[in-house]
Order: sequence, then structure tokens, then C-alpha cells
Amino acid sequence: MKALLKDRFFLVFSVVLVALFTVILTSGSVGAQSAEVTFAKDVAPILQRSCQTCHRPDSIAPMSLLTYEDARPWAKAIRENVLSRNMPPWHIDPNVGIHEFKNSVALTDEEIATIVKWVDSGAAKGNPADMPPPRKFDDNSKWSIGTPDLILQMGKDLPVPAKAPDTWKNIVVDTGLTEDRYIKAVEVKPTKGFRAIHHLGATLIYPDGGQAMIQAYGIGKNGNIFDDGSGRLIKAGTKVSFGFHIHSYGQDTITNVAIGFQFYPKGYVPKYIATTDMMGDDAEIDLPPNTDNIRTDTYMTLMKPTRVLSFQPHMHTRGKAMCLEVIYPGGGKRPGSKVETLSCVPRYKFNWMIVYEYAPEVQPLLPPGSVLHFISWHDNTANNKLNPDPDTWVGYGQRSIDDMSHAWITYYSLSDEDFKQQVAERNANRKPNVTAQVAQ
Ligand code: HEC
Repeated sequence: MKALLKDRFFLVFSVVLVALFTVILTSGSVGAQSAEVTFAKDVAPILQRSCQTCHRPDSIAPMSLLTYEDARPWAKAIRENVLSRNMPPWHIDPNVGIHEFKNSVALTDEEIATIVKWVDSGAAKGNPADMPPPRKFDDNSKWSIGTPDLILQMGKDLPVPAKAPDTWKNIVVDTGLTEDRYIKAVEVKPTKGFRAIHHLGATLIYPDGGQAMIQAYGIGKNGNIFDDGSGRLIKAGTKVSFGFHIHSYGQDTITNVAIGFQFYPKGYVPKYIATTDMMGDDAEIDLPPNTDNIRTDTYMTLMKPTRVLSFQPHMHTRGKAMCLEVIYPGGGKRPGSKVETLSCVPRYKFNWMIVYEYAPEVQPLLPPGSVLHFISWHDNTANNKLNPDPDTWVGYGQRSIDDMSHAWITYYSLSDEDFKQQVAERNANRKPNVTAQVAQ
């Protein structure tokens, strides 16, 4: 009898408890409804801006993310890839060193939280009336820099079979230039078989054998118009080498790529001449088998005052991370700031050759005698999915099964006077919280 009473008590108690929870849950979901995250209202604008250049038919990504119907089956994968910051491809740490970039495609923490909330709450479509108008994409056949003065393309189309492993090609084309010219604008792009070209870079090969990266294509940005009074030099007799990553996608494709230049008028010499140099002597890299976090340190001394415009780490399949720091000459005058980290790329991926372009107001201004210090880490173990053979010792080499550890740095050399003036301007506009500035 006692037991029965007790049971009854529990029954009543449980009913009350369930009722109570129902009230809490309903009021909770009323609250949540007003803040419901939907595809139409919240997610579509993010995908339009940050994903659709690649995730649309005929572009390089494996699936389209244009509509709700396209994106819904990928909701879980989208959640994982944005949370791990694997997508969109932008592998620099925005919280270390320089924070602002000209060409960043990274999502903000809020945007990532919105996508996660959307997926976790059931990935609802929402009200179609909330959908933003579809994004318009540039016509691929047009040059974003305007009509070039000189267009070079590969003499022969390159066929890509429907099924084949990824390949990397280097194809050299003669410019036919018989005099030096200064470049005002430059653009590189596929002209045929857009979809099979994962990314593409063009390098100038000077008559003396020196090389300089000139322009990369890959992240929805393929042209570069230099600021007035600045540009790049292309010498007579220079050749262009197209280096590209080819990715078969199930259809036989014909590909070709082109570079277009606009020149300054003959005889005009821009005040600032940008150069892209390979920096960091990596000939001695030493990657023992089955070893992770193998550190390599390389250096480059800047002989002239320098304004650094961009950073592009370069390693091969075992590459894992790279940081760039500057060691100031004699310590400079900032107390305790002899060494400053400019950037770290903690999730380097060989498949993505990303050029990180610093925003003008934070481009490092470095006095002569500064040393750029490149610190890289390689993973030569089986945990690295791209590693073709963790049981092999790996050294420096051109083949993608060899490795490298250097960076392409784009910079202007400045006169002492210009340097002083630019530092003074920088300090006058100084915002708290912005790093990479030098007090002279
Ligand atoms: C620069 C081009 C580019 C941009 C921008 C981009 N993606 Fe991707 N995405 C790719 C490519 C190419 C792949 C195929 C895997 C690879 O090459 O890394 C991929 C793969 C993925 C995958 C994995 C698919 C699978 O098979 O599991 C997801 C999910 C994804 N992207 C989501 C996104 C989202 C969400 C965004 C925007 C926030 C985005 N991507 C932006 C090019 C891009």
C-alpha cells in the first residue's frame, strides 16, 4: 500500500514535471522562432559572397551552392568545413600579426556561427521572399583589367582527360618583347576549360635566368591594376612561365590559359616598382621519414628600406605551416620589439596557392638591415593525407614529391626619404591595435 502511494506520488510528480518542461520548451521555441536562422534570410548572402565564385556550375568546386536545393544536401559538410576554417580556402591566422588583407575571403566568427546555427536547427529554407537576388558573375571571356596591350597564351591547347590524377604543368611562352616596359595592369586566367584548372600562376623568366612571380589566378580574383605611379617592370627578352594545377572532373576538356598586360606609355617610369622575389634559401631542407613538425628556418636580409605588399608561403605536399617574422636591425627603438611576427599560416595546403595581400594601411614598412625570417613546419608522416610516401627522406627539389620551404614576397624598395615620409604618415594615422609598424 505504501509502495502504491509512493508510485502515485511519482506519477503526479512526473506529470507536473513534464508539464513544466513543456511550458519551458514551448516558450523556448517561441523565442527561437523569432531568431530562426534560415537559408533565404541568413545563409544565402554568405554563400553568395564567399562561396559561389567556386561553387557554381562550370567552376572549380565539386558542387554548386547557388540554391537551397543545391546546398541542403551538403549542410553537414558545410558546417564542418566552415567550422574548421577549411572553407573558404584562406589559411592564414587572422588573429596573429597583421589582421587586415586586401583580398581576404575569410568568414567572420559571426558568419560561421550563423551557418552552424542554421545547420543545427534543421537547415530550414525559410521564406523565399527573403532570398537575395542571384549574384551576377563576370563573363569569363572578358578581361577585368580592360583591354590588354599584349595577350600571351599557350601555343597549343592542352587536353585534360575525363579521369586522371591531378597534375602540375609548367609551360613557357615567349613575350617577344624587344624593349623594357612597365606594367600598369596584369591579369592571368584560363581561356578554355575553366573548370579543369584548379589554380594558375604566371612567373616571369628574365633573360639572365632570374624569376619573379607576376600574377596568380584562383580565388575569384585574377587581375591586378597597380596604383597610379606604381607598377612592375618586364624586361626585353622576358619569357612567361604558366604554372598550373590541373584537376580532371569527369569530362574530357580542352584547356588553355592566357596572361594580359597593360603597359604604361613608353618612356614613363613609375615611382614605385613592385617586385616579387622568392625568399628563404631552402636548398638544405631535411625532412626525415615518419616525422612530424619538422622545423626549417630560412632568412632574407633587406638591404634597402622596404614596403611589403604580400606574402605567399610555398611548400609541397608535406608542408604544414609557415610563419613570417621580422628581426629589426639593432633592435630599433621600440622597447622590447626586436622581433615581430607578421603572419602565420597554420593550415597550409599544397592544393591552394594563396597570395595574402596586406591592406595598404598595414603593409609592413621595414628599415634597411631588417631580416625576414621564415619558419616552416613539415609533416612527413602518414597522418598527412597528401603525403605520397611517409617512409622516404625528402629534400629540396622541383618535383611535387620533393619539397620546398620558401615564400614569394612582393615589395617595393623605397628611397630613404620616401621611407621616412611613409613611416611618418603611418604613425600619424596610427590606430591602436594595428601591428607591423615601425617607429623610427
Ligand atoms: C576558391 C574556390 C572556393 C571557395 C571560395 C569555396 N570553395 Fe568549397 N571547395 C572548393 C574546392 C575546389 C573543393 C574541393 C576540395 C578541394 O580542392 O579542396 C571544395 C570543397 C568544399 C566542400 C567539401 C565537399 C566534399 O566533397 O566533402 C565543402 C562542404 C565546401 N567546399 C564548402 C564551401 C563553403 C561553405 C564555402 C564558402 C563559405 C566555400 N566552400 C568556398 C573551392 C572553393
